[in-house]
Amino acid sequence: MENNKKPALTIREVDATPYASSLIEGHRDFGYNLETALADVIDNSITAGATYVKLVANSISDAPFIAIVDDGSGMTETQLIEAMRLGSKNPKDIRAKSDLGRFGLGLKSASFSQCRCLTVITRQDSISSCARWDLDRFLQRRDWSLELIDNPIDIPNYYLLPKAGTIVIWEKLDRLLGNVTQDRDKSISFMNDALVRAEKHLRLVFHRFLEGTKPKLKLYLNERQLKPIDPMASRHPATQKAPEDDLKIADATVKISCYTLPHHQKMTREEWDEIGGPEGHLKSQGLYIYRENRLIITGGWLGLARQTELTKLCRVAVDIPNTMDSEWKIDVKKASAQLPPLVRERLKKVVERFVGTSKRTYTHKGQILVDETRFPIWNRIKCNGQTVFRPNTEHPVFRSYSAQLPPELREGFERCLRLIGSGLPIETLHAELTGNPESVVSDETSDDDLKPMVYAMAKTLSTHGVPNEGLIDALLAHPFLRSNQAAVIRVLEEYFRENK
Ligand SMILES: Nc1ncnc2c1ncn2[C@@H]1O[C@H](COP(=O)(O)OP(=O)(O)OP(=O)(O)O)[C@@H](O)[C@H]1O
Ligand SMILES: [Mg+2]
Repeated sequence: MENNKKPALTIREVDATPYASSLIEGHRDFGYNLETALADVIDNSITAGATYVKLVANSISDAPFIAIVDDGSGMTETQLIEAMRLGSKNPKDIRAKSDLGRFGLGLKSASFSQCRCLTVITRQDSISSCARWDLDRFLQRRDWSLELIDNPIDIPNYYLLPKAGTIVIWEKLDRLLGNVTQDRDKSISFMNDALVRAEKHLRLVFHRFLEGTKPKLKLYLNERQLKPIDPMASRHPATQKAPEDDLKIADATVKISCYTLPHHQKMTREEWDEIGGPEGHLKSQGLYIYRENRLIITGGWLGLARQTELTKLCRVAVDIPNTMDSEWKIDVKKASAQLPPLVRERLKKVVERFVGTSKRTYTHKGQILVDETRFPIWNRIKCNGQTVFRPNTEHPVFRSYSAQLPPELREGFERCLRLIGSGLPIETLHAELTGNPESVVSDETSDDDLKPMVYAMAKTLSTHGVPNEGLIDALLAHPFLRSNQAAVIRVLEEYFRENK
């Protein structure tokens, strides 16, 4: 009988350790920017139980640097050597609930994305240790030997090291200085601009810690304490919060809270701009995903809904535990995630309901503004599923003017009004409202222009039995007149004097 047994494979093992220089250079391009890199290093400080993190950034010295100082647990020398190792921990390891890390890479990959020289000084039980990766030292070498520095006292910024804690120092900031080292002024402004963006980002992603509810953290940039930016404006009295929804998935719980932000007129310009972020409110609506209270996704509906003008005040906070990291495909930068299928299914329903309610409220408001005002200047007309805005030729001011015209001119006057309606610049309006809706305002109206309108409306209302005392309220119910309140009252007083 034929023997089917295959011969055993002959296997030899050779050393294929990655070349340190090429691998580390590759780690520089994980897609970090200054804000995500700093956030990754601060994650480590929070995990180490720090009560403060001080960022010291110097863009003007001959050797610009950034130092990140914390008063966390610090490390022993053995722990420091492990911390400096690429892939020091396995993503599959189970982490403590308060641990914001996952890959054992963040410290190194975040740092190398911004600088070529990473030094870490740390102190635990009064013993200081210091280690350094200098990429320029690697250029000619292929091994992984880490530099340990026995006299860190001579390193600039050493004096910032607290009794227990850690300083991460970035030097040779080639990326951050925009590779324009010949032009010093440009380099400085490049780095300063990046710091301004980073400051806003850190105030946002760590806002729950800075608010002091989740282990309190104080964060400083060059000795200035940074205030939190709460994207849900949850302490604002006009913010609406729907009851929380809990999704139980295996042993984990995902918490979902829907917030409707206050209308921009109810906030200060600064508050509104801050929570709108660099891209504005239209782009900032959507999901805010928190992993152990640290924000990792800031807005966007991840395919669950469209970002529309009618839903731009809608934000949904989603809280996930770090035990679900692999399902959410959390990336090294902690700046992206994907919805696990089960969560997507349940969250879709919550979002559809929430977004639908918001749209109806808005549309309803639109109807009130136009339809319930006693004398709209524009009528909103629904026909064949489309919406048309048409000047209201029955408005008292138009009626009374028309009545003063010779009969042969009246038809021409109404035609002019209808032409204004059909010439409404819908596309331009849409583009402007989508881009920066708060900047689109009604034209100013002079007292002279208002007068015929106020007089005509007051007369019509009086003939319908509205007493003089009720005229102000009745007129100010009209949004157009309400926005010219002072002038309307002035003109009405004149009307009262003339019609005693
Ligand atoms: N400021 C710090 N204080 C104390 N220990 C630290 C500090 N920074 C880093 N470490 C230690 O170094 C280890 C490696 O940090 P690193 O950021 O590279 O990976 P990680 O935090 O474990 O995971 P991730 O890649 O997801 O950030 C940490 O797990 C922690 O034990
Ligand atoms: Mg980390």
